[in-house]
Amino acid sequence: MSAAPVHARPVPGGRIAYVDGRYVPHAAASVHVEDRGLQFADSIYEVCAVLDGRLMDEEGHLDRLERSLAALAINMPMGRQPLRAVMRETIRRNRLKNGMLYLQVTRGSHKRDHPMPAAHRSTLIMTARPINIAAVEKRRLDGIAVVTAPDIRWGRCDIKTTGLLANVMAKTHARKAGAFEAWLIDGHGFVTEGASTNAWIVTEEGVLVTRHLSPNILAGVTRLGVLNALALEGFNAIEERAFTLEEAYAAREAFVTSASGGVLPVISIDGRRVGEGAPGAATRRIHRLYAEFARAAAESSAVCASQLQQRPIL
Ligand code: PDD
Repeated sequence: MSAAPVHARPVPGGRIAYVDGRYVPHAAASVHVEDRGLQFADSIYEVCAVLDGRLMDEEGHLDRLERSLAALAINMPMGRQPLRAVMRETIRRNRLKNGMLYLQVTRGSHKRDHPMPAAHRSTLIMTARPINIAAVEKRRLDGIAVVTAPDIRWGRCDIKTTGLLANVMAKTHARKAGAFEAWLIDGHGFVTEGASTNAWIVTEEGVLVTRHLSPNILAGVTRLGVLNALALEGFNAIEERAFTLEEAYAAREAFVTSASGGVLPVISIDGRRVGEGAPGAATRRIHRLYAEFARAAAESSAVCASQLQQRPIL
């Protein structure tokens, strides 16, 4: 997730995780020592935001989960409908009002051997954790700093696997440099995406640019939400294409998108001011349009706040 792990109030009664059919206290949750997710990162994941008790962009995350699983021939651990029920139950048991829901599906446990086993039973893990909304909103108000790093990842970044070491290294580099995110640069000087976000710029001419979908980037669910929200507004000055780091330095505005932060303004890249060095008007407007669009879509998936407070935790 791109948001720093700022914990809000602890969950009364403690956090609850879901592992393979059981809800267990977070600290006691575990998987098999030979789980292929652990040994080979033979495993995919999703991170969904929960805002005011509502799951945001749920269908987009489930669509991508299914795409990632299909690409690796990992079985869906259960049907989509029961999966939705487990997601809601995990939110409810954690009394999660504002936070992140994490889902992971691995190819299950087997004697360690590289080839994919002929048959498997997937492991499904879900955890939930509160986030400090005020900290995220402060980031949105102040903007974030970005530094760049070479994109040393593999050739299938469109699959949301837990093989995230290159992302982890880039993010650590950013934090050590006092930045919030790292933008990854391919061998030709083009920005691919952030270590855990999609990258966007607004050119001097007011054109919104974000990289086209390909195996080189993750098809962000928030990215899609932003594009859909803007299409509804009839905004069509959008180019889905690769942009260079030089273009990014010269941009009027820049921002990142992810489930954990929504739309976050970028105010500097490698220490150089972007535009006026403050969050820009276009970025603010795009955030507002996306937030309204995503909230409206999430209405139907509401787990209302009163339920969260009244129902017993276990
Ligand atoms: N990160 N690109 C990468 C490499 C990502 O890891 C993510 C998500 C995104 C944005 O995707 P979405 O809008 O669907 O969140 C782009 C999640 C939040 C994470 O790893 O925690």
